[in-house]
Amino acid sequence: MQTDFLVIGSGIAGLTYALKTARHYPDKQVTVITKTQAEETNTKYAQGGIAGVWDEAKDSYEKHIEDTLIAGDGLCNEQVVNIVVKEGPERIREIIEYGARFDKDEQGAYSLGKEGGHSENRILHHKDVTGREIERALLDELSRTANISLINHCFVVDIITQHHLGYLVTKSTADITCYGVYVLNLHTNQIEKILARITLLATGGCGQAYRSTTNPRIATGDGIAMVYRAKGRIENMEFIQFHPTALFEPGVSPSFLITEAVRGDGAILRNRNGEAFMERYDARKDLAPRDIVARAIDSEMKTTGTEYVYLDCRHMDSEKFLQHFPNIYAKCKSMGIDVMENMIPVAPAAHYSCGGIKTDEWGRTSIRHLYACGECASTGLHGANRLASNSLLEAMVFGHRCYINSIESIQQIQTEPLIPDWKATGTSEPREMILITQSLKELQQIMSDYVGIVRTDVRLERAMKRLDLLYAETEELYRSTKVSPQLCELRNLITVGYLIVKGAQFRKESRGLHYNTDHRDKSAILQNTVL
Ligand code: FAD
Ligand code: SIN
Repeated sequence: MQTDFLVIGSGIAGLTYALKTARHYPDKQVTVITKTQAEETNTKYAQGGIAGVWDEAKDSYEKHIEDTLIAGDGLCNEQVVNIVVKEGPERIREIIEYGARFDKDEQGAYSLGKEGGHSENRILHHKDVTGREIERALLDELSRTANISLINHCFVVDIITQHHLGYLVTKSTADITCYGVYVLNLHTNQIEKILARITLLATGGCGQAYRSTTNPRIATGDGIAMVYRAKGRIENMEFIQFHPTALFEPGVSPSFLITEAVRGDGAILRNRNGEAFMERYDARKDLAPRDIVARAIDSEMKTTGTEYVYLDCRHMDSEKFLQHFPNIYAKCKSMGIDVMENMIPVAPAAHYSCGGIKTDEWGRTSIRHLYACGECASTGLHGANRLASNSLLEAMVFGHRCYINSIESIQQIQTEPLIPDWKATGTSEPREMILITQSLKELQQIMSDYVGIVRTDVRLERAMKRLDLLYAETEELYRSTKVSPQLCELRNLITVGYLIVKGAQFRKESRGLHYNTDHRDKSAILQNTVL
């Protein structure tokens, strides 16, 4: 199969790009592929909303920029922060034009929420299911666009480069070029090749590397692992963001999120003794940036010997709560928790990858003809810690920027005709699925126990040794058995785990989301970890 623009991923990043590109070139083919159902994305689960300067009487670009830089703890790329904050409102207007509905107040103005690290109310939202509304609007728009084909249940195994033409490709090869991808077509169970003039990775996050995560099953860091295997550049993977308040439900994965907007509306964190502990950690209390709140909760859980703390909403206006957070109210109710009478047990869970595939300000990766945007990319916006609700914003701004750059560059690109078919090395059917599921559990255990919110040199070293073993076993399995999505995902998650640990070992300091008790101070030298 051949296409002009190949988009891997049907979340906010991939769909923003696909819609714009298809509109610009009605005579060219845009193909969007996704490994399960189109709507099954991290995007669909977003709750709090999209940050953007909307009420210019109270808010300003300068304030949003400042908040983003403070959260990023010295590592944000200021040029990129400027771009995202200033171009963001225009992108939000576009998504409203596609049909996304955001809540309004009684006067008909957009009702703007607040989350940790924001100095003003600037979060547009659709109740507590903003992502579901955005995904719906984008997919509806896509169904009205003739030259986009959407292929579900199509698992990308690897990107195709010169390596597949028999050339030696190393990290120092200057012109590594992407010609398309090999996919496992889950309808036929065959590996096929899709050749493209331009490929965009919008494959989302990697929360599934951890035992407890807010991310759905699809979030296995496939794009990041594929680029690393293709010798492209990955950066800042040590900055994994833990959301402070996932609902504590032992054994349930993914964890249900209790949006930070609940704290924005006045909810208070309390420890098992009922103490509102955040004032002991930060002057901004419950609305401090996420790294600080998650570490404070971790510390309270350790000192009080509990697996969770409480989120107290009992003092909040019940009518307003129901209006803004109907989904959370219903979920808690289904577990026998009436949030107006009982406190909600919550604990931190892996939530967002601030690092990823290194890109420039146009979404170009270190591999030619390959772009990346959304959570899989590292654009420089988030630095060492992402400001709440900046992710959907970044995905739209960079979806647009990738589109602007690639509609120009496609003029000079032809498809490469000589790409060989996939060479299957492993031929036997995987006989013991338990090998894969057990290895996945081991990986999640290692990452949660040794590479979580608080790290030490010894824990990182131990994690790396355990990962080495898992890597060797999984590569052996990959060589000898037929490729399956489960095996590929495990392999990708092990690579992601390796990149997180390696990044954490390189960083001999504590900054943003990376906290190592053997290196508590910040280094004077500001640098990204590029692998
Ligand atoms: P995704 O939406 O995750 O889409 C990834 C796509 O890639 C999927 O279609 C998937 O099938 C496809 N894919 C992946 N691998 C492959 C493969 N190998 N082959 C084929 N297809 C593949 N951010 C905010 O700004 N505000 C919020 O309020 C907010 N709330 C959140 C709440 C939750 C519970 C979670 C989990 C995240 C939240 N975030 C929020 C973060 C935000 O939702 C994500 O960062 C963002 O939606 C990512 O979008 P994306 O388009 O990059 O990827
Ligand atoms: C939330 O709603 O708390 C999540 C927001 C985000 O991850 O940006």
